[in-house]
Amino acid sequence: MLKSILICVSAAIIATKASEVMVDSRQNASDRFFPGDFWFGTSTAAYQIEGAWNLEGKGPSIWDEFTHSHPEKIVDHGNGDVATNSYEFYLDDVKAVKNLGMDFYRISIAWSRILPTGDIANINEKGIEYYNKLINAIIGHKLEPMVTMYHWDLPQDLQKFGGLTNSIFISYFEAYANLLYDRFGDRVKYWITFNEPSVFCTTGYGSDKHAPAVNAHGVGEYLCAHNVLKAHAVAYRLYRSFYYEQYKGQVGITLCSQFFYSDSNDMHAVDRAMQFSLGWFANPIFSLAGNYPDVMITRIANNSIGEGRSWSRLPSFTDKWIETIRGSADFLGLNYYTSRYVEVNPEPKGLYPSYERDLNLKMVIKPEWKPSASDWLYSVPKGVGDILRWIKEEYNNPEVFITENGWSDHGELDDNDRIAYLHDHLEQILDVVLNDESNLKGYTAWSIIDNFEWAQGYAEKFGLYSVNMSSPRRERTAKKSAKFMATVASTHRIPEIN
Ligand code: GAL
Repeated sequence: MLKSILICVSAAIIATKASEVMVDSRQNASDRFFPGDFWFGTSTAAYQIEGAWNLEGKGPSIWDEFTHSHPEKIVDHGNGDVATNSYEFYLDDVKAVKNLGMDFYRISIAWSRILPTGDIANINEKGIEYYNKLINAIIGHKLEPMVTMYHWDLPQDLQKFGGLTNSIFISYFEAYANLLYDRFGDRVKYWITFNEPSVFCTTGYGSDKHAPAVNAHGVGEYLCAHNVLKAHAVAYRLYRSFYYEQYKGQVGITLCSQFFYSDSNDMHAVDRAMQFSLGWFANPIFSLAGNYPDVMITRIANNSIGEGRSWSRLPSFTDKWIETIRGSADFLGLNYYTSRYVEVNPEPKGLYPSYERDLNLKMVIKPEWKPSASDWLYSVPKGVGDILRWIKEEYNNPEVFITENGWSDHGELDDNDRIAYLHDHLEQILDVVLNDESNLKGYTAWSIIDNFEWAQGYAEKFGLYSVNMSSPRRERTAKKSAKFMATVASTHRIPEIN
């Protein structure tokens, strides 16, 4: 449930506004195809698939520490020690992506595999070698690598001084980013600095649900976010100053958001939800004002005063930082999974103080929405179209990649529900593309293989391929949805389903 409230709390528009959006009904089925330059890909993240948690010089990450010292916090007491062992079987994953006729493969790099303590003073060349092999295999299969620098697995040693809540993190991240550009920049043209900061800041620093389980609610998540935004901008500027001319790549950030609706057309509630989720990170980077959304600044300051403070729990940026962060992305990566209706809470809700209390909205799930295996994930395809339109309006039509979208079940090979979910979401996305309602460049399915789903362990499956977890060889087997996505990627059309 936490995921729906704290994690991926995101955007919205009111129901009436969304329904005004025109879908061009003149397009008949044969005209309905994605443009030739629209990209399809699939995604994974290092901790969820690599395993080899302590092999060949890798240092521990906060997820190694969390799953080892608190197995009870993972539904099936699982961890990423071996996972799908992509450290050994990475070629299987690359081939699977290739078999689907995809254009790109989104991976992430485990920081502590190449810098075991997180510090540039100690480089693990074995780790560099692994990513060289992986990136070369991706390119060798005529796929484009899209690389996330930080997908939640902070080197454990950096947590000793507060991890992302300490502003020294910015310097560590800059040195790490510099190493990545230097060693892989000749081949990697799409960089994503952070994956879903709203999720890891709220769950890791604002609660104890995810690593590093700091639970400094009401303060920790805002400090984390503040340093993420600065670190992102510094890494972006570094690329532009020292690498762009030679490599001509792009640097973006991946944000996660639901779309929000209101039964009572409460625009303020909808906007508040949207700003606290997507706007929290997108406003400083993509808006002209280049700061946190006004509604966050005001509400958190007021709550802080009410709590007896003379300062706001939401840190503020100097003008110089606003300038550095504003415009610091070549594209917006969007992870869309689901949506919510919102209602204003009559009474304050959530821990005191907390992000949830600052937002103070009730999240409503409609009974007609189809549930998945995850308690936060319901199929709301309309939301993906509405959020793309919202982004266009709010941020002056930035370049967007959908960097994740997917469905969980219990591992069926005939995964018809996943196919229905993908089908319905792709139809909405295609409407947006055909009506020119977003500068959308590509779509990424989460995930190519079943993997370690964080606090849900191996209980919930998101893969287009299943993995035999009881065999050391971890054989991958295509599900029915793999065939569906292969058809989409190779024909650029969405096959009909029953
Ligand atoms: C995202 C996350 C992924 C994956 C997915 C499915 O929030 O980036 O790592 O876990 O959710 O829940």
